[in-house]
Amino acid sequence: MPSLFDPITLGAVTAKNRILMAPLTRARATMDHVPTPMMIDYYRQRANAGLIISEATGISAQGLGWPYAPGIWNAEQVDAWRSITAAVHGAGGLMFAQLWHMGRLVHPSLPGRGQPLSSSATTMPGQARTYEGKHPYAQAKAMTNDDIRDVIAEYRAAAANAMQAVFDGVEIHAANGYLIDQFLRDNANFRTDAYGGSIENRIRFLVEVTAAVVEIVGADRTAVRLSPNEERNGVNDSNPEPLFAAAAGALSDLRLAFLEVREPDFDGTNGRAERPPIAPLMRAAFKGAFVLNSDYDFQKGQAALDQRKADAISFGRPFISNPDLTLRFAKGLALTPDNKTTWYAGGASGYADYPAAEEPRFVAGAVNEF
Ligand SMILES: Cc1cc2nc3c(=O)[nH]c(=O)nc-3n(C[C@H](O)[C@H](O)[C@H](O)COP(=O)(O)O)c2cc1C
Repeated sequence: MPSLFDPITLGAVTAKNRILMAPLTRARATMDHVPTPMMIDYYRQRANAGLIISEATGISAQGLGWPYAPGIWNAEQVDAWRSITAAVHGAGGLMFAQLWHMGRLVHPSLPGRGQPLSSSATTMPGQARTYEGKHPYAQAKAMTNDDIRDVIAEYRAAAANAMQAVFDGVEIHAANGYLIDQFLRDNANFRTDAYGGSIENRIRFLVEVTAAVVEIVGADRTAVRLSPNEERNGVNDSNPEPLFAAAAGALSDLRLAFLEVREPDFDGTNGRAERPPIAPLMRAAFKGAFVLNSDYDFQKGQAALDQRKADAISFGRPFISNPDLTLRFAKGLALTPDNKTTWYAGGASGYADYPAAEEPRFVAGAVNEF
């Protein structure tokens, strides 16, 4: 049975352990979505992860609605990312870029954005983050076939840019209610064409985007993230089990580097899941490496490997406040709790300033009290 500390082959790369860093938006880029030097330190500190999955990174201005989140559509952004991947590689780590289109969550007040795009003309409930505070979301435009073609071209270009920036691969963000999820799930997709209605039709956009990215970077450097079992950003499905089993099956045919599934506990203390676990159906349908996420600690993660529920675990919040998470797991050291107020706050506080653990020191011949 593999341990979380055993290496794992994820397509073209071999991760030195099965403790992956989940994608985490931290809003420390510039207003023009260019990564900043403090991001170099932050990611370098976390190179002990078997693989870092970058924070969600916009494939185009039109697709990025999160103030100060990074993008990967222009040369300046690519150059800045290259410094980050170089630092991670220099520290012995690996890094995939998470490619992001937010669809109807993009607010038109952000510079250069038009009406947001989605599968259908819906409006995201609640209020959008903008550079001038929070504002109600705008109604999305139902994407035409031309829009679909253009957005797929943006994914392709962003994937090519990720290779230019020397990422080891890319993860397509198809989770959490963003654009691809707005096609997948039936409370947001009301189309009557080849991209709506049946499960086969609703997974079409996901499969086309993934196939396009595979053409650019290769299947063995392409991963996908899905979140089958909870409402996120107003997106949900009336019958997610067959939908996500079909999605996993279609992605399996593409022979990807891995599939990452975010699924919270159903009955645990952190439980947000609405239904019993859907991931097992997806694991059965997906023949490649399978990564599970949400609410794992070391013991739960190892148990998931022992029970063959997953091949690796990605950890999100624990990596925010524990840059040396794998070492702490290995030595059984206490974890530092993270501070929600600094998640997206910008600035240096609560970002690359979480210290590595103070290891208990053994002094020969002394009475050692740990
Ligand atoms: C501050 C923060 C930012 C996040 N940003 C992203 C993101 O950019 N992309 C994504 O797919 N998920 C994102 N998530 C979700 C995490 O990747 C992960 O699914 C979630 O934190 C649950 O895992 P955990 O219990 O290990 O933290 C974010 C979560 C947090 C707390």
